[in-house]
Amino acid sequence: MAHLKGHIGYPIIGDKSVEFYKDPIEFVNKRVNEFDEKIFQSRVLNTPTVFIASAEGVRQLLYEKSHNFEMGYRAFMYNLYGDNLLFSGHDEAHRIRSVLHHLFSGESVQQWDSLLEKLMNRNFDRLDSGCALPMYKVFKRFCTELSISIFLDVDIESSLELVQETTDLATTHWHGIISVPFSLKVPYWSSGFKKAIEAKNSLFEIICKRLVQTVDGDFLQQIKSAGFKDMTEAAHHVLLFISALVPKAMASLLTSFTILMAEKDYITHCEKACRDEQYLQYVLLEVQRLWPPFLGGRRLASQDCEIGGFKIPKGYAAAYITYSAQRDPKIFPDPDEFRPERWRTCNAGNENYLSCFGGGPRDCVGSSLMNRMLKTVCKYLLNHYSWLVPNGQDLTHKWLPVSRPKQQVMVVYELKSDLEQSSEFTEVDDPDIHS
Ligand code: HEM
Repeated sequence: MAHLKGHIGYPIIGDKSVEFYKDPIEFVNKRVNEFDEKIFQSRVLNTPTVFIASAEGVRQLLYEKSHNFEMGYRAFMYNLYGDNLLFSGHDEAHRIRSVLHHLFSGESVQQWDSLLEKLMNRNFDRLDSGCALPMYKVFKRFCTELSISIFLDVDIESSLELVQETTDLATTHWHGIISVPFSLKVPYWSSGFKKAIEAKNSLFEIICKRLVQTVDGDFLQQIKSAGFKDMTEAAHHVLLFISALVPKAMASLLTSFTILMAEKDYITHCEKACRDEQYLQYVLLEVQRLWPPFLGGRRLASQDCEIGGFKIPKGYAAAYITYSAQRDPKIFPDPDEFRPERWRTCNAGNENYLSCFGGGPRDCVGSSLMNRMLKTVCKYLLNHYSWLVPNGQDLTHKWLPVSRPKQQVMVVYELKSDLEQSSEFTEVDDPDIHS
């Protein structure tokens, strides 16, 4: 087994968290270049940590070696969320995942189709105002409305006050989450953290009230009868779903879709994606590959194990870096290029090398729901509008806690004529696509 390059350093003084959180991609790239290895060690969050930035290494961690690891979020997120799947060990996770599976897979995800349609019309019917629009902001408002409507069974138009209150609380809660890793002196006493805990408690109260009021057919009614241990466990999961993580991640992907489609070959990509649902699927895989909303994930080794030829000792953390692994040239030729066709040709069947929604036994339980919704929103935008991202804008990304362009990216939309709009997607036999 090869020796891990890099240093785990001494506790506290050898910690590299500040450097990592300042620019995580720069942190990883610098070491990958220096060591000429995509798997290396360092000390972050004051824990010896093995960084895994190769596609094959991440796949091994998430799939065949997953039983050697526990999830690595409890230490800095548990206080802000309470008991939920994200912090559970293997057996508990198996139980909770089977409860959630019924709610978010197969035909269940179709129950929100008409809600999605209504909210798209509400948020996107006037994008062609003639002015450039800050798209991440527009998408975030839409995604926040969507997640509150789905997970709290709230009708946005008749409950504006509750929507605003929930959004404000989720924002304060979020500020607590982002403050934690930035300080090694975990700021449990800071006013920001205290406010975040208060916001969490208020959100929890709102959820419990909604769970009592719920009526037959509602999503919360389904949650109540899904098989959770008790109502507290059910409510803690609703808290995870309505927190700002989900809308921010969805808005991040929609923003990346908008920007990537507006880059070179705009007309070709848009026309193909408009005509061929399979091509749109490839586009969305490519959006996830190039700009995953979450930089990666964290695990703790519960026993010694080997990944990519390197030993990871028990007690070490393993940080998988989705962004780097999804641009690993060993699997993805021309890794920085937006090439949807790769999913039909050289990368056909390589979806397991993507970790935008995690992978293996602890993959994202909301991924079917998200994929269906992202596809529907992208279809809507492609079908109704053409768009332009005016030149000269700063498109550099920030990474934590959710990736997105550092500056608001302004986008100009133009409504397509009735002739250009097609109400149905068709599978076409385009030689350019299928050859
Ligand atoms: C675009 C939106 C989303 C993205 C990018 C995303 C991404 C992820 C990723 C990367 C993981 C794996 C974390 C890891 O390996 O450490 C994960 C786990 C999880 N996701 Fe999502 N997610 C999204 C939306 C959702 C939604 C809508 C739900 C709820 C319906 C959800 C529920 C969960 C849960 C409960 C887990 C933990 C699974 C476990 O520990 O076994 N996610 N998500």
